[in-house]
Amino acid sequence: MQAPKVFVTRRWPSEVEAELAARYAVTLNESDRPLSADELMAALRDYDAVLPTVTDPLPASVLGVTPRRCRILGNFGVGYNHIDIDAARQAGIVVTNTPGVLTDCTADIAMLLLLMSAHRASEGERLVRTQAWTGWGPTQLLGNKVSGKTLGLVGFGRIAQAVARRAHHGFGMRILFFTPSDPDPAIVQTLQATRCASLEELLAASHFVSLHCPGGVATRHLIDARRLRLMRPDAHLINTARGDVVDSEALITALRERWIAGAGLDVYENEPNLHPDFLELENISLLPHLGSASAETRNAMGRKVLENIEAFFTGREPPDRVV
Ligand code: 8YV
Repeated sequence: MQAPKVFVTRRWPSEVEAELAARYAVTLNESDRPLSADELMAALRDYDAVLPTVTDPLPASVLGVTPRRCRILGNFGVGYNHIDIDAARQAGIVVTNTPGVLTDCTADIAMLLLLMSAHRASEGERLVRTQAWTGWGPTQLLGNKVSGKTLGLVGFGRIAQAVARRAHHGFGMRILFFTPSDPDPAIVQTLQATRCASLEELLAASHFVSLHCPGGVATRHLIDARRLRLMRPDAHLINTARGDVVDSEALITALRERWIAGAGLDVYENEPNLHPDFLELENISLLPHLGSASAETRNAMGRKVLENIEAFFTGREPPDRVV
């Protein structure tokens, strides 16, 4: 029997690329540049499996290509809002993702941004790098203390809980959360966390707000001007979820007019073309979507994709099937 044909849309760590190549007839995107809609359609037309990432928008217009050979999208990543899931379901394309293996790494990045924003680390580094630093001063770059403060988590899934563990057990923070789904009471108890009845209640009560909800139409601009105005003037907003959860224009106004003290972003609307005004602001820390960017994690994500397509091609249920 011939090995299934597998198309990988971006370069992966070499270890997992080698594992893939040992089992399948693999085509890599040697240039590693994000593919166009036409190139993605060609991949869907010619390959049994396509392994996309967040840089591959897969709307109904692309998934609807005919004829189509692809029967499974093994997404390299936990978030899948770049894939039109209803269209995939209707077309009978199986979609899998990589939950669990990037939880710690993404939670670490959320804490990194929280600490950077609170302590004005980006401003400080700019001062040093531009050789504008004239020496220590008693009132220089005073930030906000993190230890003992209140952290509000929007969403309470794996990554939010991992952030809560770090914040509560490491920094003695009080944890608030808002989620539509019912959390495990044992986890809530261990974290001594409090569930807020509304997002508004959480925003008004938190020194730090960290976003951990999925992206997509349901959460687009969940954090808008009205909700930013509910936050404390000394609060910081952290986003490691998806860029479109926050209305960029509203956040820029909030930071410029000091409705809130600062923000730390790892994700953006229209990545990588973030709103240019973000670059003009002092009170923001900006990272280039590093959420899962550790060698260990990216290898583990690749292995998860392998497990999923291996199950699919041997007639078993893929462990991380989304549709
Ligand atoms: C991934 C992420 O690296 O998994 C996710 O949802 O946001 C990232 O950390 C990215 O999605 C790769 O496709």
